[in-house]
Amino acid sequence: MNLDNFLRTKGTDEDLAQLIMLLSKQALDIKAGFLSARGTADTKNVYGETQMALDKRADEILIAALKASRLVNWIATEEQPDIIEVEGAKNPFGVTIDPLDGSSLIDVNLAVGTIVGIYPGHVLEPGNTMLGALYILYGPLTTLTYTTGSGVHEFVMHEDGTFTLMQENLTIPDGKIYAPGALRKDYLPYHKQFIEQLELEGYKLRFSGSFVADVHQILHKGGMFTYPAFAGKESGKLRLLFEGTPLGKVVTEAGGAVSNGTVNLLEVKPTAVSNRTPIYIGGRKEIALIESYKKNAGT
Ligand code: AHG
Ligand code: MN
Ligand code: MN
Repeated sequence: MNLDNFLRTKGTDEDLAQLIMLLSKQALDIKAGFLSARGTADTKNVYGETQMALDKRADEILIAALKASRLVNWIATEEQPDIIEVEGAKNPFGVTIDPLDGSSLIDVNLAVGTIVGIYPGHVLEPGNTMLGALYILYGPLTTLTYTTGSGVHEFVMHEDGTFTLMQENLTIPDGKIYAPGALRKDYLPYHKQFIEQLELEGYKLRFSGSFVADVHQILHKGGMFTYPAFAGKESGKLRLLFEGTPLGKVVTEAGGAVSNGTVNLLEVKPTAVSNRTPIYIGGRKEIALIESYKKNAGT
């Protein structure tokens, strides 16, 4: 079944379904950039990170499509300093976009993706108010995984850019994969204790440098991903709005959990689009374990 029919069958709100379809239709164009837009762009984003040509291309494609469709009122992206307000928008929706996640892997041809969070209005709201979230993973296959709050569903892209259903109602299994970001020498004590416990239990290391690809693997195989607070960077590296909450929503809807080590990340109200956060995402068991270690450490 194709994505369009599936959304209809599921009784998805018409405006939301249109938005998901519009986003899915940009994947083919973004993917073409892997060949045509190689290398760096000689510019930096608001985080001081050097942009890749494809970061900018994906950003431009998504913003242009959203503006032209007028399907959303607010667009926040990792590559833009300010939230964009769309003139004459048909819906009050807001979207947060990481146009290309894992960009350091573009040049080495490893899996990267696009991450989107969808809000009923402005995006500076806790993640648990989201209407839905999705990611598109550009790997050997291009896949789209979405939730609108009733299950997590996965689709595969065909040569003409259309998507058909691969798996309905995905749930995160028990598994023993761990993907730990940051440098071990900078671990804070409670985090070190947590990681050592997973290692003791035989968790296998899988960290690629692409959050979306690592979380995708964990969604299918179980375990957990973390980019923690670390010495010198207590707010961590990943961005709450562009990375944490959208994938947090997907994993939570699949029966997993997401946390900053203290509370459910979906309950955190952002103060700015650029907010960073420590993140733990994956199985409920692993997330409960880090929260208890952190609590016991009194931090
Ligand atoms: P982005 O490409 O959107 O800037 O995000 C990169 C993120 C994330 O995808 C990944 O998990 C992490 O940065 C990797 O960071 P390190 O290279 O510091 O491990
Ligand atoms: Mn990213
Ligand atoms: Mn990015």
